[in-house]
Amino acid sequence: MSHRPSNLFTNPPRLPLVAPSILSADFARLRDDCAHVLDVAAGDLLHVDVMDGHFVPNLTMGPAIVRSLRAALPEAFLDVHVMVTDPIQYVKPFAASGANHLTFHVEPALDPLAGAGMSPLSGGGAGYDPLELVEEIHAAGMTAGLAINPGTSAETVLAQPGWVEAMDLILVMSVWPGFSGQAFIPEVLATAKAIKPKLGPNQRLEMDGGLGPETAIPAREAGVDVLVAASAVFGQPPSERAEAIRAIRG
Ligand code: DX5
Ligand code: ZN
Repeated sequence: MSHRPSNLFTNPPRLPLVAPSILSADFARLRDDCAHVLDVAAGDLLHVDVMDGHFVPNLTMGPAIVRSLRAALPEAFLDVHVMVTDPIQYVKPFAASGANHLTFHVEPALDPLAGAGMSPLSGGGAGYDPLELVEEIHAAGMTAGLAINPGTSAETVLAQPGWVEAMDLILVMSVWPGFSGQAFIPEVLATAKAIKPKLGPNQRLEMDGGLGPETAIPAREAGVDVLVAASAVFGQPPSERAEAIRAIRG
């Protein structure tokens, strides 16, 4: 087993952490918006949403953006959430670009048809083994997370021997991934509550989608300790982002 990296997620100075998602930032002002949200508005890290147009119906950003953020903000913790059918081929590119953490989805690993109809240039992608992927992510120097969609039960993950123990973070999606600004799906709180007791002190429970000052309350009560928010932070004028983050933190 490879060495597990130690970082903000495994050894947090405080909890919960608030993770502004740059999906709702102004990409033409990305450095300034990100520096402000970390240094002035007291966000704990940056959440980077990577979408491939296959696993989700949207295209966003890739390793080049991470490389630019790393160069512009050497101290920032970069939490990369890949919503792609084939995460394997992106582990090394994101590590080389300066990502600290990589979360991948369980659904393409479970669905043997997930890669059907994809371009051969995609490298395929169905049926990867999450435990092998975690090994690769750790070997590349990043911590690893497993994400589940609103339609995926907690049992899907809990029933697999060793999966939860291997992860540094479990991400429970509270919207169907693809776009920021969607409404929070409260049914996923039960999923978070089922997973929380299985996690140790160095493992995080992240929630992502539709979180703001109001919906963060039941999320925190369910044991969530990393709260991702795109529109609730970057959708506010810069002068109001510190208060938005403070309210989400609780
Ligand atoms: C959704 C992404 C989220 C998204 C959240 O597909 O994974 O990180 O940016 O956006 P809000 O906070 O606006 O729901
Ligand atoms: Zn995300």
